[in-house]
Amino acid sequence: MIKRAEPRILNPEPLVLAIETSCDETAVAFTKGYEVLSSQISSQVKVHECYGGVVPELASRKHVIALNFLLDKALKEAKVSLSDVDVIAITKGPGLVGALMVGMTAAKEIALVLEKPIVAVNHIEAHIFSIYKNKPTLKTPFLCLVVSGGHTMLVYVESLGKYRVLGETLDDAAGEAFDKVAKFLGYPYPGGPQIEKASIKGDEDKYDLPRPMIDSKDYRFSFSGLKTALIYKGRKLKEKGEGYKREDLAASFQKAVVEVLAYKAFKAAKEYEVKSLAVVGGVASNTYLREYFEKTAKKAGIEFILPEKNLSTDNAVMVGFAASYHYKNEDYSNLKETVSPNLRLPVTTASIK
Ligand code: KG4
Ligand code: ZN
Repeated sequence: MIKRAEPRILNPEPLVLAIETSCDETAVAFTKGYEVLSSQISSQVKVHECYGGVVPELASRKHVIALNFLLDKALKEAKVSLSDVDVIAITKGPGLVGALMVGMTAAKEIALVLEKPIVAVNHIEAHIFSIYKNKPTLKTPFLCLVVSGGHTMLVYVESLGKYRVLGETLDDAAGEAFDKVAKFLGYPYPGGPQIEKASIKGDEDKYDLPRPMIDSKDYRFSFSGLKTALIYKGRKLKEKGEGYKREDLAASFQKAVVEVLAYKAFKAAKEYEVKSLAVVGGVASNTYLREYFEKTAKKAGIEFILPEKNLSTDNAVMVGFAASYHYKNEDYSNLKETVSPNLRLPVTTASIK
């Protein structure tokens, strides 16, 4: 009689302890595959608000203070102990150098004590992985629009780990433009959520703002000119004594940004014949954007995927998801790992079709 071999368990899901400290959110999570056992986030908004933006030195100090506390909370929420952890995931970059170093140092200390490997995660790639909570069965290829405070790029995800950037912003990122316009209009930092809130009470058709690069044949973006156009408009209206309702300017700006993003994203989806389109990053938590893309996707017959709102802005869950993938591909490192503030998304040079 032929003895049957025991079935091999392929890549059992590792328990990941994930840490994210690239900017002004301290975050710790425990994940297993695309399952979230715990997600803790401590926002530093209140600390930076009075300065109108993130102060790097303060961000680093606040990460130091928050990390241990969040780790304790996450352990309790996940009902795991540190000795259960298989791998430690940490954001390598891009981000603020001091802030990244706080997380990296903590990750190395834990890795040293537990004698476990480290997976150093690219923050932009982590944002792409954020959609797997909602759609763990998502198949590649798909198109992903990354819209955060530091980046705006359209990425063709050929397969996980294999990315092709179809276009990115030439100047301000979408989130950065939201923040700068909000500052001009007198709203506190961070501006994105403020513009969204103000827009509800505004008339989005009141001011005809430009749609930069909408007619360019490529997939590059530019938001600096739009921001400047809004500022000139506001100043001119004041000079003429007409004044303006800032909610109207906010709503007109929000509409212009979302229209450009959607136009380019759906054009690319058609050209590259993808069935699914995702939008990730802080700006993806904007309700106007979410509804606009949902409606357009329905008309175009394209599956549209969004992360939950709390996984759109910075969090450690997405870092855990990306790390789980890399760990299973034996792509991990050790205590020699370093941070990389200007890290780019790793791209493939192979042709798409
Ligand atoms: O992804 P994220 O949390 O951090 C980076 O990796 O940059 O994105 C932060 C950016 C900020 O510019 C913030 O103003 C913007 O996302 N943002 C929003 C909204 N919530 C956050 N922009 C528009 N509408 C929102 N609701
Ligand atoms: Zn981010």
